[in-house]
Amino acid sequence: MLELRNIGRRYDVAGRAVVALEHISVTLPSGSLTTVVGRSGCGKTTLLRILAGLTAPSEGTVSHGAGSPPKVGVVFQEARLMPWLSVFDNVCFGLKGRLAPEIIEQRCSAVLELVGLESFRAAMPAQLSGGMAQRVAIARALVMEPDLLLLDEPFAALDAFTRRAMQNELVDIWQKRRPTIVFVTHDVEEAVLLGQHVLELERGRLVGQDAIEAAYPRDPTDPAVTQYRRRILERLLAPQPSSPPSTPALSQETP
Ligand SMILES: Nc1ncnc2c1ncn2[C@@H]1O[C@H](COP(=O)(O)OP(=O)(O)O)[C@@H](O)[C@H]1O
Ligand SMILES: [Mg+2]
Repeated sequence: MLELRNIGRRYDVAGRAVVALEHISVTLPSGSLTTVVGRSGCGKTTLLRILAGLTAPSEGTVSHGAGSPPKVGVVFQEARLMPWLSVFDNVCFGLKGRLAPEIIEQRCSAVLELVGLESFRAAMPAQLSGGMAQRVAIARALVMEPDLLLLDEPFAALDAFTRRAMQNELVDIWQKRRPTIVFVTHDVEEAVLLGQHVLELERGRLVGQDAIEAAYPRDPTDPAVTQYRRRILERLLAPQPSSPPSTPALSQETP
């Protein structure tokens, strides 16, 4: 279980305080698949970085429940592969020297199989399409057997066909391995197709939460899916009170 309590994050930009996140409180059950959606600049990456432990919150706490801290895997928008290493060596990089070579071989082969790239194990990153490179990045995160898998707009740069295939593949992997997944996207349709829970962020605030009750794999043309999509879009496009809410709005900001 992952619990965020009253998370806030401010940045100081040239002497001006920028509020990236405020008052974020949410509980994510272990093994759940949550998507976070909102427009560019709403605080999605900041939230993901806080979950990954890469950025400290200015206030609030993240707790992972009882037991040892979770193993965290992160996938960014670009694959960030090492161009001088083969697909296989990119995937097993984090395990080198930590496990016996035959275990590494076994685990890397298994995840490459899972993302459908076993036959490309000897290929170099420059020889891969964007979708394949992103699958290698996912394999590299999965090979560490994370309890918590964080993905930051991982499919944003892919064409629509590849994106659909990758979305289905991710759901497949989640159903097989059941890590807790937090998936960030600016695409409402993607958020609804993937998430059991959708968190809606606007200007650093949580403006809505939905539990999506539709079976996987989801169809973008399913009326239930389009209805969730419309509702979330409406909520994200609704005018938000300017911050802090207690101060009277003197001038209305135009978005
Ligand atoms: N390292 C940083 N320094 C200063 N401001 C930042 C930094 N990271 C993010 N911000 C600001 O915080 C806000 C949220 O950014 P971000 O979390 O990257 O949003 P998103 O991922 O939704 O596009 C933006 O206004 C951005 O300019
Ligand atoms: Mg971002």
